Amino acid sequence: MAAHPGSRPDPTHLMRLSTAFWESQVFLTANRIGLFALLADGPRPVGEIAGGLGTHPRPTELLLKACVALELLTLEGGQYGNAPAADAFLVPGKPGFMGSAFRYSDNLYDTWGQLESALRENRPPLATEAYLGGDQGMTRDFVYAMHERAIGAGRALVGLVDLGGRQRLLDIGGGPGTYAALFAQAHPALSATVIDLPGIARHAADIVAGMGVGERVELLPGDFKQTPFPDGRDVVLISGVFHRESEASCRELIARAYRCLQPGGLMIVSDVFTDRSGTGPLLATLFGLNMMLTAPDGGIHADAAVADWMAEAGFGDVTCRSFPPPMPHRLVQGVKPA
Ligand SMILES: C[S@@+](CC[C@H](N)C(=O)[O-])C[C@H]1O[C@@H](n2cnc3c(N)ncnc32)[C@H](O)[C@@H]1O
Repeated sequence: MAAHPGSRPDPTHLMRLSTAFWESQVFLTANRIGLFALLADGPRPVGEIAGGLGTHPRPTELLLKACVALELLTLEGGQYGNAPAADAFLVPGKPGFMGSAFRYSDNLYDTWGQLESALRENRPPLATEAYLGGDQGMTRDFVYAMHERAIGAGRALVGLVDLGGRQRLLDIGGGPGTYAALFAQAHPALSATVIDLPGIARHAADIVAGMGVGERVELLPGDFKQTPFPDGRDVVLISGVFHRESEASCRELIARAYRCLQPGGLMIVSDVFTDRSGTGPLLATLFGLNMMLTAPDGGIHADAAVADWMAEAGFGDVTCRSFPPPMPHRLVQGVKPA
């Protein structure tokens, strides 16, 4: 990316950046109009595809060819078919389906177009309430997007932390309940309480029940800034929440989590974090902007800073770890001294 010392600057990287959104639009539009679902049963010619999608054949063929170039589709004998990744992750009903997660990115396309006004006004162009219960469709998309992402990251988290012998988990801002449900599946003696806003908790109840652990994962609808945390917990999880919150709010959540834990209790914070410099990894820096555009205090923190806040709140054995690649998440955990 950067020029080698002594070499002349090259505009290739800039040209690439200037059109990177073309690729996103091809992919997100194809996902939105149901292209990959249409090809679930096998390849088809352009005329049939346009007919099935209700689109015009001429522009559709251009889109299909771009999808082939992007390795989303294959083209053989005049028939377009799903490439392996599209078949695995973009066809509704498949176990790895992530189409709703990508719909969430799609929903934010216009919001990213307002980056300049957000910079000038220091306020998110997207009203947070819209996807946290205000707009039913956006809220549903958001919850299922969180769930589809959390399935992979949650399985990794279950493998990363040892909850053996622990019995009562509190998941603060637990969203779809996916993490709590995965922990409950892995540990039959564990029960969990998930706090999240009422509009989210409604969908979470369905998801948790569908994962077969509805009896051990309780939903507590409410605002985590006001709802008292149930005490006597031996694990607290806060995942994907700190990127919406200021440092002061994160410290407050850590202090309240500390108080509701029994001695020896474990606190786990997982999220996308930057390194100490704040300038990398790239995805984390972009994610910080994404959160600035979508939440009033949205941004990004460094895991090392969170570790400092936890240590200052009284936690011991505070450690930071990365999730297995390619997952961008990192984990900070600490133990309340016995
Ligand atoms: C990015 S999601 C993370 C969900 C889940 N923990 C995960 O990692 O997949 C952030 C969650 O925090 C919830 N949230 C944000 N502000 C909240 C508040 N004041 N009270 C309760 N929940 C809140 C949102 O509804 C959302 O479900």
